[in-house]
Amino acid sequence: MSTPTFAVAIMAAGKGTRLKSKRPKVLHEIGGKALLLHVIAAAKQVVRPGDIYVIVGHEADKVKSAVSAEGTHFVLQAEQRGTGHAIQQVKAFFAASDITPPDHLLVLSGDVPLIRPETITAIRDFHLAQDASMTILTAVPEDPTGYGRVIRREPGSSEALAIVEQKDLKPEQRDTPEINSGIYAFRTASLFTQLDKLNANNAQGELYLTDVASLLVGSGEKVVALEATGGVDEVLGANTIAEMMYLDEAMRMATARRLMAQGVTIFRPETCVIDSSVQVAADTVLEPFVQLLGNTVVGGDCRIRSYSVVQNSTIGERVILRNGCILDQATVANGAILGPYAHLRPESHIGEGAHVGNFVETKKVTLGKGSKANHLTYLGDAVIGSGTNIGAGVITCNYDGVNKHQTTIGDNVFIGSDNALVAPVTIGDGAITAAGSIITDNVPAGSLAIARSRQETKPGWADERRSRLKKN
Ligand code: UD1
Ligand code: CA
Repeated sequence: MSTPTFAVAIMAAGKGTRLKSKRPKVLHEIGGKALLLHVIAAAKQVVRPGDIYVIVGHEADKVKSAVSAEGTHFVLQAEQRGTGHAIQQVKAFFAASDITPPDHLLVLSGDVPLIRPETITAIRDFHLAQDASMTILTAVPEDPTGYGRVIRREPGSSEALAIVEQKDLKPEQRDTPEINSGIYAFRTASLFTQLDKLNANNAQGELYLTDVASLLVGSGEKVVALEATGGVDEVLGANTIAEMMYLDEAMRMATARRLMAQGVTIFRPETCVIDSSVQVAADTVLEPFVQLLGNTVVGGDCRIRSYSVVQNSTIGERVILRNGCILDQATVANGAILGPYAHLRPESHIGEGAHVGNFVETKKVTLGKGSKANHLTYLGDAVIGSGTNIGAGVITCNYDGVNKHQTTIGDNVFIGSDNALVAPVTIGDGAITAAGSIITDNVPAGSLAIARSRQETKPGWADERRSRLKKN
């Protein structure tokens, strides 16, 4: 006998009415990533992307474009008439295509985002070992309200008789503690046979996939339930913003624990917001209220002080981010010191050992090794060499109202305080510009440029004025 084939269907067509949001439910984010992307990522650990069928409907184009890079198939459920109706579309999809349906179909919910690949594998293996027509993944949460309940044949039996939705529970079923996770394995042929028998005679007037359980039992087929072993959070659904934020916290705490296990110190981890994709090396210290987002990578022996927000950036080793730094698509080389309150906008490249201090904003800037811009400065569209000092209050005037222009500053340059560097302009190696200068012309290497009027001093003028005003 050849190994049975498996495919995964992910139900993601629903609107998410309970969210009261314009955005489709499966595109809401936890841990910095859309719910559906979490589910697809887990499924991809178990089957090839070409064996994943994402069922889309509400805002189908938006959902598709958000996950199109994942390489899955899409099945359209134009009208959303329930989870059973969603899977009917998968059956129709196979009928209309020349793809052979798999022997077994794993069904995942797009709004059950913490599901782990290990659990998907466990339900697959249990399903095969039991030779079941349907296997239901279950859990026993503290509060089962809102979930469908799994009715076992008898307590302790692996066999299930039915799934009853919360709104359809009979009084004597209200205490059933075991919930349906919305994750299942089906023998495809058995599932497809029962799908045509579904009806909408229930509290929500929908075609429930959950009714397939009792239909199969009625046809003498085997339905089993498997309780998830990885903790209840893994199978919780995200139907409301509050539920999503609970899962977001659970996911971020798991990320913080992973980093701590790798040698990262995180003070008050519950206050930090760290996306699951973030990497941090050992001996780096994160202070409370730090946010590390997107594809951020932080090297070892760094210290990131409170209230810094780092997004899609790469930070080397031994870097210090003082309080309140904001980084977006920036790179920071080893030993650099930033902040407090430095703002690195996209394409800022800060060199080894460089300093970017208080209230300094950078954009499309390369700051060379050991260079310093410590106070109240804007550097945009500039290439700055190494060992250069940018005085307090320096501004690159990169924008003429229509176009952006480049400022080029060499090595070991000293830019005086409060200079305006009117781009395009080049300042050569070793040059000095006087404080308060408006630099409009290139400054050759080794020169001094003063671009302000000379000071005039009138001895005694102030005292005379004061006594004149007092007399009147
Ligand atoms: C469903 C189950 C319930 C289970 C719970 C677990 C049914 C009838 N009920 O309830 O037993 O405890 O999940 O989280 O299945 N969807 C579609 N097309 C539709 C309707 C829904 O694709 O026409 C998708 C949704 O986008 C969602 C998933 O199916 O990702 C589940 O739908 P939802 O309405 O959230 O079902 P629940 O009421 O949570
Ligand atoms: Ca749900």
